[in-house]
This record gives sequence, structure tokens and C-alpha cells, in this order.
Amino acid sequence: MTSPTGKFGSLLLLFALILLISVISGNDEIAFFQKISTTTTRPTTTTTATTTTTKQPVTQEKKCGLFNDKICVKRTECAETVRNVRKVIIDLGEPPKSICHYLETCCLPKDKLKVSINREHTAGSNQCGVTNVDGLYMTVKGGSLVTSFGEYPWVVAIFDVGAQFVCTGTLIAYNVVLTTASCVAAEQQLIARAGEWDLMTENEPVAHVNISVKKSIVHEKFNWESMEYNIALLILESAFDHLQYITPICLLGIDTEVFYEKCFITGWRSTRPLNQPSRNIVVKVEIAIDSGSCSLNSISTEICATANTNLPIYAKGAPLICPTDSSIYHIIGAWSTRTNGAIQFSDVRQFGPWIREKLEPDGIFI
Ligand SMILES: *[C@@H]1O[C@H](CO)[C@@H](O)[C@H](O)[C@H]1NC(C)=O
Repeated sequence: MTSPTGKFGSLLLLFALILLISVISGNDEIAFFQKISTTTTRPTTTTTATTTTTKQPVTQEKKCGLFNDKICVKRTECAETVRNVRKVIIDLGEPPKSICHYLETCCLPKDKLKVSINREHTAGSNQCGVTNVDGLYMTVKGGSLVTSFGEYPWVVAIFDVGAQFVCTGTLIAYNVVLTTASCVAAEQQLIARAGEWDLMTENEPVAHVNISVKKSIVHEKFNWESMEYNIALLILESAFDHLQYITPICLLGIDTEVFYEKCFITGWRSTRPLNQPSRNIVVKVEIAIDSGSCSLNSISTEICATANTNLPIYAKGAPLICPTDSSIYHIIGAWSTRTNGAIQFSDVRQFGPWIREKLEPDGIFI
């Protein structure tokens, strides 16, 4: 009497046991998958976290795609995205398609291009004030005020020893950066970085170049209170290579005529825009030059102007640039400060003799 029910019972127990094992192993499988996915995604979260403070070189390939079978590579280095197009298109207004950075694409490993872009050298060493219309290697759309990579090849980012961004500077010779005294007067050791575009990433088509500052020359009459004579020169340890995306701007000659109705600034915002905290791209803002002066105690070494935008722009050290009728760009000012809504630029035109005098001892003639 007990044996049939016992048999049945043990059979039931066996079923229950099998069910339990399958459930446990199933859970194990899920847990196992979770482990894989957390270990593979963890490096990506740490890299994005560190890029907000300092730029870390990418040491590990980031996996992506539905089956984790692809890797994130620069858009200019994936055969699929560069096929048949001269320049890749970066649409800043577009939501991300994958977990990759906006300058990267999710690419099959076999499609990753072995050779990266050849850095193009410029022809003449005396060339200045030439832009790369619409930029190099990539076309950038969808952003407000942003420029394309390499479009304004004279923009230089100035960093302190702690790798913190200090100000925008302007290349006036391959080994000389012009900026304002208020940017650099208090700094000990500086680094000039050319060929830079988005300060928050190193995924640009070609790498930027860092060179240390050998000598920092602050105008001897610079005054912190009045902001008069707010100009400085940085002489670099060595000169930048003559590349298409790294070339100086021109200083205004005695008889050079520029269009004062077509002036603008190029540079980085001193404070990151709140709506887009993960990017800090070189901006271009049109500037209207006022005939009057910014303050009542009229300063003779300043240019007063207003920005043609409603966006809050502050770009310390950034050059005020105007073109000639043959589209050669000249620096006429450097962003000094803001007074009552107007932007106060140091009048670089007036400092021509001072600049030449200060560079001569180092054998630099421009
Ligand atoms: C330039 O210097 C910064 C630190 O100041 C560093 O993070 C970066 O990797 C350097 N870039 C290159 C291309 O060496």
C-alpha cells in the first residue's frame, strides 16, 4: 500500500528536483551573463568618468553591438563609415546610435582601418591667416556656433601643469602664442596645445600636439584693475610642425585693410555650456565692434564690442579676427573681459611694435 504512493512520491520528488536544478542553473546562467556584461561595461563607465576631468588615452577597446561582437573606433577609422565619402559627417544634434562616443562608431573589428590619417603638411612656412573651410576629415553639423575640426588652425588651448584648461591662445608664429596677461600672469608653467578641437575627448581624426612654454612675457604695464595692456606672449620650447590644421594667424600690417563688419572670435568657452557638459568644441561667434569705448574712463588699448548671439559666451584670451577681401584672416584683438554686457578686447593692432620688440631677442621675426 505504501509502495505505489512511495514510488509516485519519489518520482514527483525527482521531477521537483530536476525543475529546481534547471531553475537554479538558469539563474546561474543569468548571473553569469550579468557578470560578463558588468565586467565588459565597467571599463567604459570609468573611462567616461575620467574624461570629464583629465583626458586618458584609450587603453582598451570598448565592445559594442547587439552581440558585443563589434568595437568602438573613431569614425574616420572604420571602413564602413568612410567608404566612398571624403569626409565623415558628424551630426551633433543626432541622438547616439550606440554606446560609443559621438566621434566613434560601432565597427566590426575586421573593418577597422589599419592606417590612420596621414597628417597633411602645409606648403609655405610664411603662410598665415588661412582657414580650412568647413574643416578637415569630417563635416560637423547640428551644433550652435561650433566650428569643424581644423577650420581655424591658429586656435591654441593653454593648460596649466595640473592639465587644467586656462584660456584660449592664438598662434602668431609656429613657436609663439598670443593671449591675454590676465590669463597667464599668475601661472607658473604652461603647455600650449594646437590641433585641438573638442577639449573633452581625444577621438578627433588626428591627434593634437602639446608643447611646453619656454618663456612667458606679460606686458610690463598690465594692470589687473583697469585691465589695460592686457596682453601676453608665450614662447614655446619648440615649434609646431607645419600642418594643415596647425598654422598661425596674421598680424595686421600697416597698410592691410580688413572688413570690420565681418569680424568674429574663435576659441573655447571659459565655462562649459550647461546643456552639453560632455563637449567643449571650438566656437565661432560673430562680433559687432562698437565705435565707443566700454568704460567711462576710456582706455586707449581696448576695443569694445558685442557678440551677435543670445548664448552666454565667455572666451578668455580668444582672438578677435577680421578678414581681408581675399579671405586672409588677421588678429585685431584678444578677449580681455566683459563690462556692462559689452566685451572688452585688448587692441592687438596697437601692440605690433611691442610684440616684435619682445620676440626679437629670441630671434623670432614676424
Ligand atoms: C597632452 O597633454 C595632456 C596633459 O596635459 C595629456 O593628457 C595628453 O595625452 C597629451 N596629448 C598628447 C597627444 O600627448
